[in-house]
Amino acid sequence: MATAPRRIALLTSGGDCAGLNAIIRAVVLRAEALNWEVIGILNGTHGLMYDPPQIMTLRTADVDTVMMRQGGTILGTTNKGDPFAYPMPDGSLEDRSWQIIENFQTLRCDALVGIGGDGSLAILHRLAQQGGFPLIGVPKTIDNDVSVTEASIGFDTAVAVATEALDRLQPTAASHDRIMVLEVMGRDAGHIALAAAIAGGADVVLIPEIPYDLANVVSHVQEIRRSGRNFALVVVSEGVPTPDGPAVKSPLFGGEMRLGGIGHVIGSRIADMCQAETRVTVLGHVQRGGHPSAQDRVMAAAFGVHAVDLIRDGKAGRMVAWSDRCVIDVKIEDIVARPHKVDARGSLVRTARGLGICLGDA
Ligand code: F6P
Repeated sequence: MATAPRRIALLTSGGDCAGLNAIIRAVVLRAEALNWEVIGILNGTHGLMYDPPQIMTLRTADVDTVMMRQGGTILGTTNKGDPFAYPMPDGSLEDRSWQIIENFQTLRCDALVGIGGDGSLAILHRLAQQGGFPLIGVPKTIDNDVSVTEASIGFDTAVAVATEALDRLQPTAASHDRIMVLEVMGRDAGHIALAAAIAGGADVVLIPEIPYDLANVVSHVQEIRRSGRNFALVVVSEGVPTPDGPAVKSPLFGGEMRLGGIGHVIGSRIADMCQAETRVTVLGHVQRGGHPSAQDRVMAAAFGVHAVDLIRDGKAGRMVAWSDRCVIDVKIEDIVARPHKVDARGSLVRTARGLGICLGDA
């Protein structure tokens, strides 16, 4: 039976990551195969704060295999400005959700595919409920902290970048008898740090989920040096608190706070306590850009196709997810406000311990 032509909207929201363009491509290809039209909304929900909304029609010609290989998102995105409490120039917060819903309705789309992390998906879910339009969520975030799904788009690539950084730091560390500290992203979840530390042969990994005592880190590094190895690799997740207080954050232009800088705190303390030359690398946004890994591309393709098929089947309020090597879908409510952190007793923590990696346990 032929399906009636439909018009669906698509947006990317939250911090960018590798693999977003691959999802966009998969959605467009699958929708065109069903003879549907796809409207891309620019810059996340910000594109819906304009009248007329900022949009682009997406056709197969716009999503060739060159763009699929590239990082970033051709639609643009934003990780600032919750529309339910939108920061206004005078410093006040205003509910602009009505404007987004009204502008979305002018697009006359049958459904929205929203690609985002847990924060963005929670906002989109609220908008969809208030506006009464069907939403299908697609999880993406290098932090890998969206619950239920085993992985989110962008995480695999970010881990590969952090692992490559360790591969490059190791020879220079060995050549100079140095301790190398690598700070990686992840917000309040240590998934990137833990996976990269295992894959990249680190000696120490500090993650927000496991309280640490710097004395334990120092004695582990000193033991390595006593045993005759002249260098050490230490991975620190950005959300780890300082030895004496909270996590290191700095204000952005506009006032929002961002994590970053704990690597330097840990590095200088290790240098003093170990009396050893120490250097610090803060990997930052390098983890988000660049070509998506094959795994991220495969998942992006599966997520994009499944998202369109869910709309075809009349489903709403679902998020596509990765489970047991397959794409499945779950209720968006099941993931909202339940960030998936590293399980301190989980198998990867046990793996790290089994390899002799120090987690600094307090
Ligand atoms: O959530 C993704 C992420 O890259 C975090 O790991 C990091 O803390 C944050 O975004 C950085 O945000 P921004 O791009 O605004 O600097």
